[in-house]
Amino acid sequence: MSSMQIDLEAPRGTRMPMPSARGPLSAHLIAVLSGLEANPGFAAAAQALVDGNRDHRWIVFDEDAQLSLTILYELHLQGLSEVSDRWEWDLDLLAGRATLEAVFEAALREIGAVPAEDGPEAVVPRLWEMTAPSAGPGMSTFMAREADVEQFREVLIHRSLNQLREADVHTLGIPRLAGAPKGALVEVQADEYGGGRLERMHSTLFATTMRELGLSSQYAHYLDLVPSVTLASLNALSLFGLHRRLLGALVGHLCAVETTSSAPSKDYSAGLRRLGFGRAATLFYDEHVEADSVHEQIVVRDLAGGLAQQRPELAADIIFGAAACLALDDLLGAHITGCWSRGESSLRAPAV
Ligand SMILES: [Fe+2]
Ligand SMILES: [Fe+2]
Repeated sequence: MSSMQIDLEAPRGTRMPMPSARGPLSAHLIAVLSGLEANPGFAAAAQALVDGNRDHRWIVFDEDAQLSLTILYELHLQGLSEVSDRWEWDLDLLAGRATLEAVFEAALREIGAVPAEDGPEAVVPRLWEMTAPSAGPGMSTFMAREADVEQFREVLIHRSLNQLREADVHTLGIPRLAGAPKGALVEVQADEYGGGRLERMHSTLFATTMRELGLSSQYAHYLDLVPSVTLASLNALSLFGLHRRLLGALVGHLCAVETTSSAPSKDYSAGLRRLGFGRAATLFYDEHVEADSVHEQIVVRDLAGGLAQQRPELAADIIFGAAACLALDDLLGAHITGCWSRGESSLRAPAV
């Protein structure tokens, strides 16, 4: 195993490479962004796709729709290679995005359904209850005890779209909060960004883990390999982060992330050590064992609990955001373990 090497070059080349299309809508969008289409007409194409489906949940599993959402959201985040930043506020693309989002949000609200009787005082106990560790051995136990290097690579690839920009979308909540909940989010996010030290940023640690396992740590390098269910998880966070009206859901999403990280991180670290990897590969997970046992207290009690007291109308959405995050994590976990149990890769094409 190589000696400890921290990826200090991560900030270079952070734009998302243009992915391959997965259907007519994403092909249309890519053609527009690549300057091949004079008249976008994207909103009409998005409406046509949505009109062809009656329920909502299809969109979570639709490769074409999820990839289109990922591309549209990226215009607001790191941007895409050789795509003008002026597309970010293009009215036709925004209208098409809104059409897809209406169905996607409805699907997430079905998946993360919230009992109507929950009030602001129920938010903190409910979050602990929802995120309590399950009784049986889960995927992280498998990673600790049995997973091979190729399976670890697959999991890193699924997670890489978000982890290589870890914390960025939750940070969008900061300017929308006020008072003590704002302070709580700033405290957690400061840790995620390594207290301002590049070598300690969690995204930097994740990039190092990827390279230690022989993977590229280039941002979004593996986009074409991840399936719609992985993109849906990524897109749900972007949906919550980019709409101020969904601030409660963004906070709930962060609670689900932080409260389900510490114990599995210990398992992932143990699995990598079992396979012979050293500190450089495990540091990302080691850091989360410690950090997230503190973060979970801050985000549930001070951030979510504080926000529910301050703005009771957001209480239901806090629970919704957490439930949607957990449900999408379960779908991804079921996809990965289902593929592995059949002896197949969980990626869309052979890894690397
Ligand atoms: Fe982190
Ligand atoms: Fe954290």
